[in-house]
Amino acid sequence: MFDLVRVLPLILATVICAQARPNSHANSRRSSSAVSPFVISSPAFETILGSNPTLSVVFNRTLPLFHEAGIYHPPTDSMFVVSDTFSDPTITNGQEVQVLVHVTNLSTDKPQYTILNVTSLPNPTSGARYLHNGADLIAMVCIGSSATSGGLFFLNPYPPFNVTPLTTSYGPYPYNSPDDATVMPDGSIYFTDPVYGFTNGLRPPPYLPNQVYRYDPATNTTRAIVDGFGRPNGVTHSPDGTILYIGDTGADVGNGTIDTQGQRSTYAFSVRNLPSGVDGSTVGPFVTDRRVFAMPDVGANDGLKTDLHGNVWGQSTDGLHVWTPNGELLGKVLYADGDGGNLGFAEPGEVYLMAETVLYKLDISNTVVGTGVFT
Ligand SMILES: *[C@@H]1O[C@H](CO)[C@@H](O)[C@H](O)[C@H]1NC(C)=O
Ligand SMILES: *[C@@H]1O[C@H](CO)[C@@H](O)[C@H](O)[C@H]1NC(C)=O
Ligand SMILES: *[C@@H]1O[C@H](CO)[C@@H](O)[C@H](O)[C@H]1NC(C)=O
Ligand SMILES: *[C@@H]1O[C@H](CO)[C@@H](O)[C@H](O)[C@H]1NC(C)=O
Ligand SMILES: *[C@@H]1O[C@H](CO)[C@@H](O)[C@H](O)[C@H]1NC(C)=O
Repeated sequence: MFDLVRVLPLILATVICAQARPNSHANSRRSSSAVSPFVISSPAFETILGSNPTLSVVFNRTLPLFHEAGIYHPPTDSMFVVSDTFSDPTITNGQEVQVLVHVTNLSTDKPQYTILNVTSLPNPTSGARYLHNGADLIAMVCIGSSATSGGLFFLNPYPPFNVTPLTTSYGPYPYNSPDDATVMPDGSIYFTDPVYGFTNGLRPPPYLPNQVYRYDPATNTTRAIVDGFGRPNGVTHSPDGTILYIGDTGADVGNGTIDTQGQRSTYAFSVRNLPSGVDGSTVGPFVTDRRVFAMPDVGANDGLKTDLHGNVWGQSTDGLHVWTPNGELLGKVLYADGDGGNLGFAEPGEVYLMAETVLYKLDISNTVVGTGVFT
């Protein structure tokens, strides 16, 4: 939920200035704006962008209503977004909270949004579409509040938007402040649990390590699945579920301090079964083979998603970064994100970018389809 933009304004300014100089492929692509937002690092990115990429503003508000999630729900032509933490006398009764924002009529020329007062989701942060065993649900994670534990929940994407808690504690210990989740092809849900809720003043002191959990709805059980992070943040997986990607934003301590030696890489892991030690059989899945996948040149990845070609899309301080599965940077889409934290794939060739007070729509090649959006 955090990135480095608030505290690294000089770096951001540097990037924008650098981008103002003539750029090989980029300037030919611009439509109306003075500077192209598209930075092409590999020719393959031109195929992804298509012949006429556009970045347009859907909403531009004063409140930070478009911060995270970006969960597209095709049957209702809508997207679930969550806000950053804010306080407003009429919308939040003056409390510092995060709210669920439902963007409807998404494909029309008049998208609208409604703030959903879902009090059973305490400070929602992110999630993913859940489509297993005939379900049509949203798996949502929530930070929790001073009084209520966060955790993992099912949200009904249709009115009355009712909520079912799945897991809100590990044994007797409430989760720190779950931040993001991904739904695996086997129906399990992996979610990250950094300590930002405490450092951000929304949660009591944490009881649990900065780590990642696997919840299995089939058995209603949760396992700690991978640890060793500074602040585990965005999480996603390859289309076939054999690779797990987790962004570490440990450099952003969460209290306003930037630790220049802290983690800001995205790590890849293998998800696989291993020998059980009995009769040649295997057990799992386990998350193994931790490796640095990519470290953004600027910032650290907050939200992470993959497309069906296995490319990894991550939002960072200066905008959107896209990598091939072998960690090669394809290119970027730059915008002053003002602490925005995620991207959401919608119909083929449509990507929504949450940029805090602004919701952007990126129109690119319709060969680009998000993992987990339709199946
Ligand atoms: C949003 O609106 C503000 C105030 O009018 C303006 O300064 C800003 O440039 C707009 N942002 C975008 C991305 O259009
Ligand atoms: C949200 O719902 C709760 C309980 O239904 C109610 O007490 C609260 O006033 C509502 N808040 C807003 C801003 O509508
Ligand atoms: C928005 O969508 C709803 C149904 O989801 C429809 O009733 C309404 O007419 C639409 N509004 C506009 C402006 O298209
Ligand atoms: C899942 O387990 C939790 C306790 O770990 C329990 O509170 C909850 O009711 C269980 N849910 C279902 C659907 O059995
Ligand atoms: C933030 O936390 C770090 C690590 O715990 C600590 O070194 C630093 O002094 C803290 N900064 C502030 C402003 O509290």
